[in-house]
Amino acid sequence: MKATAKAHTNIALIKYWGKRDEALILPTNNSLSITLDGFYTTTSVEFNEELTKDRFVLNETAVEGEQFQRVTKFLDLVRSLSGKRLYAEVASVNAVPTAAGFASSASGFAALAAASSKAIGLNLTETELSRLTRQGSGSACRSIYGGFAEWQKGEAVDGSDSYAVPIAPREHWDIRVAAVVLSSKMKKVSSRRGMRRTVETSPFFNGWVDSIPYDLEAIKEGILNKDFVKVGEIAEANCLKMHATTLGANPPFTYWLDTTLSVMQTVQQLRDSGIPAYFTIDAGPNVKVLYLPEHEEKVQETLRNIPGVSDVKLSRVGQGISYLEDDTFV
Ligand code: PMV
Repeated sequence: MKATAKAHTNIALIKYWGKRDEALILPTNNSLSITLDGFYTTTSVEFNEELTKDRFVLNETAVEGEQFQRVTKFLDLVRSLSGKRLYAEVASVNAVPTAAGFASSASGFAALAAASSKAIGLNLTETELSRLTRQGSGSACRSIYGGFAEWQKGEAVDGSDSYAVPIAPREHWDIRVAAVVLSSKMKKVSSRRGMRRTVETSPFFNGWVDSIPYDLEAIKEGILNKDFVKVGEIAEANCLKMHATTLGANPPFTYWLDTTLSVMQTVQQLRDSGIPAYFTIDAGPNVKVLYLPEHEEKVQETLRNIPGVSDVKLSRVGQGISYLEDDTFV
């Protein structure tokens, strides 16, 4: 009872920021992302009746504590869906710097959901898989699909209508994303805690939620028409709105470092010089820059030369979940 799956991380252009149900991971707003081919997780899961507890190995190191608890809690969901009480051996390899705003939890939980559900014999549709994945990590439910995907927040209290749907496949549009790495240290305020504090205390939170439907409608139009300036402007403004809510929280917090601001200003300067480029930032200090293929060289060179930038990793639009033959995995 073994399966191996590969999932790519995603970067939200319209951010998920705020939960209406913490246990079921139900969001207060729809979000929309690009799946990235450069960052992914490969996970193999084997259920075995000889095991007396789950085991989780990440990048060849056994994991305990909070991270292990999240994995085993997720496997409980898979066990209860299948009706089989079997423990599992989980081995993951992450090609994403963990917990530095690169949403490694997105590729991680998408790969775990796909591999574990297949290994235990559940034959899930993509919708069912997205709904299951959501309960491990919200943003992960969008990584089931390649290209552009929207997570529909849904209305039902049991979360049955909260899952991602595809908006456009990866072949639709070759846009690029440069991930600008400033710090690969673990972040101080997890997205989970950051969201909760914002929902509970920030007076800007309602304004954020109210603005989403307009951003979403406009960006979907921009994606379908391949209007790069429109998509970039909306994504950048949406990111700034999300981060503004954290400044209004009590106690206030920000994910930005001084170099985060330098990168943002450099991207604005690139635009002033005639190169369309736009930034977006998740719950960490690192910046992702959207650009078109013809500007790759200039964008990469400019970003690499910013003091404090430790690396720039380029990515194209990526694919959705894939399953691997077990012997192709380490
Ligand atoms: O799914 P989480 O708990 O990793 O939260 C992700 C939140 C953001 O990355 C900031 C936004 C998003 O939509 O991915």
